[in-house]
Amino acid sequence: MEALGKLKQFDAYPKTLEDFRVKTCGGATVTIVSGLLMLLLFLSELQYYLTTEVHPELYVDKSRGDKLKINIDVFFPHMPCAYLSIDAMDVAGEQQLDVEHNLFKQRLDKDGIPVSSEAERHGNWELGKVEAKVFDPDSLDPDRCESCYGAETEDIKCCNTCEDVREAYRRRGWAFKNPDTIEQCRREGFTQKMQEQKNEGCQVYGFLEVNKVAGNFHFAPGKSFQQSHVHVHDLQSFGLDNINMTHYIRHLSFGEDYPGIVNPLDRTNVTAPQASMMFQYFVKVVPTVYMKLDGEVLRTNQFSVTRHEKVANGLLGDQGLPGVFVLYELSPMMVKLTEKHRSFTHFLTGVCAIIGGMFTVAGLIDSLIYHSARAIQKKIDLGKTT
Ligand SMILES: *[C@@H]1O[C@H](CO)[C@@H](O)[C@H](O)[C@H]1NC(C)=O
Repeated sequence: MEALGKLKQFDAYPKTLEDFRVKTCGGATVTIVSGLLMLLLFLSELQYYLTTEVHPELYVDKSRGDKLKINIDVFFPHMPCAYLSIDAMDVAGEQQLDVEHNLFKQRLDKDGIPVSSEAERHGNWELGKVEAKVFDPDSLDPDRCESCYGAETEDIKCCNTCEDVREAYRRRGWAFKNPDTIEQCRREGFTQKMQEQKNEGCQVYGFLEVNKVAGNFHFAPGKSFQQSHVHVHDLQSFGLDNINMTHYIRHLSFGEDYPGIVNPLDRTNVTAPQASMMFQYFVKVVPTVYMKLDGEVLRTNQFSVTRHEKVANGLLGDQGLPGVFVLYELSPMMVKLTEKHRSFTHFLTGVCAIIGGMFTVAGLIDSLIYHSARAIQKKIDLGKTT
């Protein structure tokens, strides 16, 4: 009994007798309002608790050697598909001229509407439907072997199509100047096709898979070839004044998207103020690992970019070529983003703070109202008696 009496001394919440308590209308209003506020604050706290937090960490990237996937979707409203070539190169010396991979070209008419419903796979686009009307490839002997006009090499001994001749010329490092003098091209209506597509645009979409080292890829008019170790494009087939490199980048990314990724080049529209412009995008690729809550690991990349543009009127590489060039570099640092549940104890602390804080503040307000009301009442009563 005595022990219980001692324990009572520790009560931090001494109770007052019910009889001394008065309930007021002001108190009720304060209770209701503070109760509603408490609920509101509790709900916002709960909502915050239910979101996931993303925790970033920085590492030195030690995972070299895999492939880098580049997703591309670019529009060239004034650059016909027949002119446009896409090349990829990297510092390891791997050259991919006129890359075939998984890139597609879609011809667009003057207003930017696709010309045909099916896109042509890049690389095979010389064999479009248009030529079918000009000549029938089946009418030729399939075993024929036509001349490459002196550009024959070990692997290309026969040039049965205009494209073959162009390729052979490219490997030799020769400019492809006069398509009309080449039988294969005349037969396929190469010049006509170039003429026919003159006012068209081109959409390039798909993806490229490159080595995970620094490199570049570009979209440039003319077929590219090496000439004394300089990358050259045969631009002679159309005037330099006609090259309008206006472009719209709908999407460019280096890997899969993770929730909340920002691809800084998406939906950028760049208008070329002059003919024959060279646009360079310097891209720094930051390898990123995104760990989802369910344990799924997404290996991808973020990037930052700066743009440089200049007028390129020379045909040689050192003076610049008209086109859109993307030069990418890999950052040695890797970002690891980990999705996490928010801490439950923090949530509990927050809830207690809301309840306790609201209670105290409401009590203060209530006593303020009560006491001032009493003081006013006293004054009024005093006025009445005198
Ligand atoms: C290229 O085309 C755009 C319209 O899409 C135009 O505003 C720009 O002036 C053109 N540039 C040249 C050099 O013709």
